[in-house]
Amino acid sequence: MIKIKVSDEKILARKTDMFVFMLEENFAFGALLQEVAKVAFPQLKQLFEYEKFTGKLMSTVVVPCVIGKKIAHCIFVGLGKSNDKKPLNVENYRRALGCVVKLAASLKAETITLDLPSAQMFDVSVEFLAKQTAIIVDMAAYQFTTFWTDKERKGTQLAEVVVGGDAKDAKAMTRGIIEGQCIGNAVNKTRHWIDMPPSSMTPDHMADRAQKIAKEHKDLKLTVFSEKEINKMGMGGLGGVSRGSDLDCKLVILEYKTKTKNAPTVAFVGKGITFDSGGLSIKPADSMENMKDDMSGAAAVIATMEALAILKPDINVIGLAPISENLPSGKALKPGDVVTFYNGKTAEIKNTDAEGRLVLADALSYAVKHYKLDAIMDLATLTGACAYFLGPYFTGMLSRHDDFVARVQQAADLSGDRVWRLPLHEDYKAAIVTPMADLSNTGSSRIKSGTITAAWFLSNFVDDVPWVHLDIAGTAYDVPDISYYRTGATGAGVRLMIELAMNWKK
Ligand code: BES
Ligand code: MN
Ligand code: ZN
Repeated sequence: MIKIKVSDEKILARKTDMFVFMLEENFAFGALLQEVAKVAFPQLKQLFEYEKFTGKLMSTVVVPCVIGKKIAHCIFVGLGKSNDKKPLNVENYRRALGCVVKLAASLKAETITLDLPSAQMFDVSVEFLAKQTAIIVDMAAYQFTTFWTDKERKGTQLAEVVVGGDAKDAKAMTRGIIEGQCIGNAVNKTRHWIDMPPSSMTPDHMADRAQKIAKEHKDLKLTVFSEKEINKMGMGGLGGVSRGSDLDCKLVILEYKTKTKNAPTVAFVGKGITFDSGGLSIKPADSMENMKDDMSGAAAVIATMEALAILKPDINVIGLAPISENLPSGKALKPGDVVTFYNGKTAEIKNTDAEGRLVLADALSYAVKHYKLDAIMDLATLTGACAYFLGPYFTGMLSRHDDFVARVQQAADLSGDRVWRLPLHEDYKAAIVTPMADLSNTGSSRIKSGTITAAWFLSNFVDDVPWVHLDIAGTAYDVPDISYYRTGATGAGVRLMIELAMNWKK
């Protein structure tokens, strides 16, 4: 784990491999830069002009220097500018910082130091900015190296980050950093589980991970239902999807209970298909390539529950993860089959590749039946259509409950896990009608809009509980060009869920 420390020493007095200076677009060459010039590189101003460095977002200038007889690098990174008179966007800071961490790796720096930028410039608190710093340092440094046998390939690992600030802010900064590291850890744990090969992250493996977490945190209560119990309880969706697989499906439930009296209770439900081949409605090879990521929702929920057990929000949180493989075999669910869910509703299976909604239907029904919920949110790599429409930069959000939507929207904006609402309008509802059963598991080609019709399907399993559905099909994996991610899993939803739970406020 990267050590992140707070310091009130002047930046150039700190011992480090890399001094980082973050500058707004069209910055003034002020006292600090003049000092850097004096100590490290007299022609600094000319160098900025030579490299046409004006502080544009993520533009960088790298200067090797000798400070106090020690070789180091001074790094200047642009924070970009704000529109009109608005404060700078925190996302600019995240991306500039992600860039710094990647640069540290390429310059083989083991330690870096920076000053926390003025929180005022972003119109946020010092604590919040320190929290974002820790989250992004951890996220940007993530690598999936489990199967690398060449030790050299990992390169230099960042070991320590020193964050400078006013002595009066030290407490707030430390609080923010501790919370941020907990969140960063949860995000990276999620990413690691998703990046693992599908045969090494089966329903069993995932249940084991949940069990390990529950053992380590006494504030968490764990329940794991086996395939036998799942079928016995009448969960025909989860049990049905698992039929084609030789492995047992699981329903994992982690409960966090706050000490606060009369606190609201919120449930998070994550889709956990550890490999989605499509089943008998088998996917073409190139669509199947990344389908180990189809448990991203479940991974996010389980890792989030661990973070919450440490951060202890003032609300009760239930995390549920229906986990299964979706494979073809002689026993597999067939197009034309009808399944009955935990709440008694039935669905005709027209396409076995629309399996996510089937496992979620049972988990949602279970949650609303067994807990008195104030809200329920599910996260799922549910539809290719969502990945097409919003691409990799926004998670699709669908809901009929504007109050809950407002909370989720706020948590999304604050955390950087961005969402965009799509219309869950009545007109689309006709798409999932079939003469065979209560519901059809695929929308009709007449209406298309697969993301919306999938959400309508799920709406049948939440009763009257305020509900938000997040489709993370586009955002969970391989998000390009964002400096603090890399190829592979992103941990989408973890930052959002933690922010939502921590700031619920009754
Ligand atoms: N897991 C997929 C959705 C998906 C696609 C996630 C691409 C990430 C990237 C889901 O189970 C699926 O196969 N959905 C089908 C539904 C269709 C058969 C109604 C889809 O979107 O094509
Ligand atoms: Mn599928
Ligand atoms: Zn799927």
